[in-house]
Amino acid sequence: MHLNKEKSMTKTNVKITPANGKLGVLLPGMGAVATTFIAGVEAVKRGLANPVGSLTQMGQLRLGKRSENRSAMIKDFISLASLENLCFGGWDIFEDNVYEAASKAKVLEQTLLDQLKEPLSKIRPMSAVFDKSYITLIDGKNKKTGKTKKDLADQIREDIQRFKKENNCERLVIVWCASTERYTEQAACHESLAKFEKALLENDPMISPSQIYAYAALMERVPYANGSPNRSVECPALQELARELRVPISGSDFKTGQTLMKTVLAPGLKSRLLGLSGWYSTNILGNRDGEVLADPGSFKSKEVSKLSVLEQILEPETYPSLYGDVHHQVQINYYPPRGDNKEGWDNIDIFGWLGYPMQIKVNFLCRDSILAAPIVLDLALFMDLAQRTELFGIQEWLSFYFKSPLAAPGLKPEHDLQVQLLKLHNTLRFMGGEELINHLGLTYYGIVEE
Ligand SMILES: NC(=O)c1ccc[n+]([C@@H]2O[C@H](COP(=O)([O-])OP(=O)(O)OC[C@H]3O[C@@H](n4cnc5c(N)ncnc54)[C@H](O)[C@@H]3O)[C@@H](O)[C@H]2O)c1
Repeated sequence: MHLNKEKSMTKTNVKITPANGKLGVLLPGMGAVATTFIAGVEAVKRGLANPVGSLTQMGQLRLGKRSENRSAMIKDFISLASLENLCFGGWDIFEDNVYEAASKAKVLEQTLLDQLKEPLSKIRPMSAVFDKSYITLIDGKNKKTGKTKKDLADQIREDIQRFKKENNCERLVIVWCASTERYTEQAACHESLAKFEKALLENDPMISPSQIYAYAALMERVPYANGSPNRSVECPALQELARELRVPISGSDFKTGQTLMKTVLAPGLKSRLLGLSGWYSTNILGNRDGEVLADPGSFKSKEVSKLSVLEQILEPETYPSLYGDVHHQVQINYYPPRGDNKEGWDNIDIFGWLGYPMQIKVNFLCRDSILAAPIVLDLALFMDLAQRTELFGIQEWLSFYFKSPLAAPGLKPEHDLQVQLLKLHNTLRFMGGEELINHLGLTYYGIVEE
């Protein structure tokens, strides 16, 4: 594919390998999000429910001029793997099969899970690469052992190869759905692929389990998306590997709940040049994710991801009088009675004309995994599409799904949900050989010629 044509052309002729055969979706971490995703797909396949929240299943794409009144379902417009062709697997430190894990997660009703018991019970997690120093508050028995981190990466590679063969898959994707690891700064071993590979052999403590999975995935040329905020493919070494082997990567941290609301509201306030003096966000959450996040190290990963959103949307350096002094605070409180049904409160102190203060209050009673499951589905299908389109390295067009979207070094990530959606839609139009839409609209008024 000739990406250099993008600038000068409004229409392209991109070659996409058809989505023939089975697509294996492998999930490190088979907890609430992963099992809600898998059970959801099985329910949709049987006509028991609708895939609400999924662009790949329900989204429409406008095509051509507004006067043409043309649009298509995304899944009809571009070649995507069908739900019937998906096949699931993964790794976890707990041995529960997906039916048992979903029942324990208590996100979906037991009556629905019981109807899906047969396919869900068949999916058993492979043994995990786990390191207590990265996730301190949980532990399980289903773990790999190895002399070096390189051995562990090789074992994950073998798992990937075996899964592909046994399930007769044409292609694979991996979406990290495991617990949030503790916050880490970039270390020397992350600076280049050569240093990373040396560090794997030397058991460098700065290489996390999630990076071992990511390395193994990339070595197997399997696209890798990171759903949690910890540093995984978010380092030069693994990005170098992704470019070298031409594998798509994306991350980090699924954009659901409170941050989704933030990336809807904050661009709206900024569009109208309303000032902001403070944004206080707090949550109660009672699932295992909440339990892991009760550890300050894991919470720090989440906090950094959640805090960066506002600053990058509001650009205080460009608008110092409106956004130069924002007090932004985020808290997550582990509160078991609520399970997966998180409640978030936001108090937003804004100011308007002549500096007069106003307040906005948001109380979002959401369901964490219900919001995350369609993201996992869309990422799996779009990452596979990226690979079949020969896009590789960072997939910025998938920023729509992430709290901390990956972008090329030196490039500010785009956080505004609507801009992210425009980018995603235009990328699909680009792949499908349709005209890109820039919303100028002057041709309708005879001011600019077509
Ligand atoms: N639900 C949301 O709205 C949302 C939003 C953004 C990010 N996330 C992230 O998604 C991830 C999953 O969330 P969840 O609610 O399913 O959590 P969960 O605790 O229910 O599931 C995570 C699973 O990962 C397993 N695990 C931990 N370390 C592992 C390892 N090294 N290898 C394999 N498995 C491992 C745990 O045993 C657990 O079963 C978390 O990192 C969370 O922060 C969730």
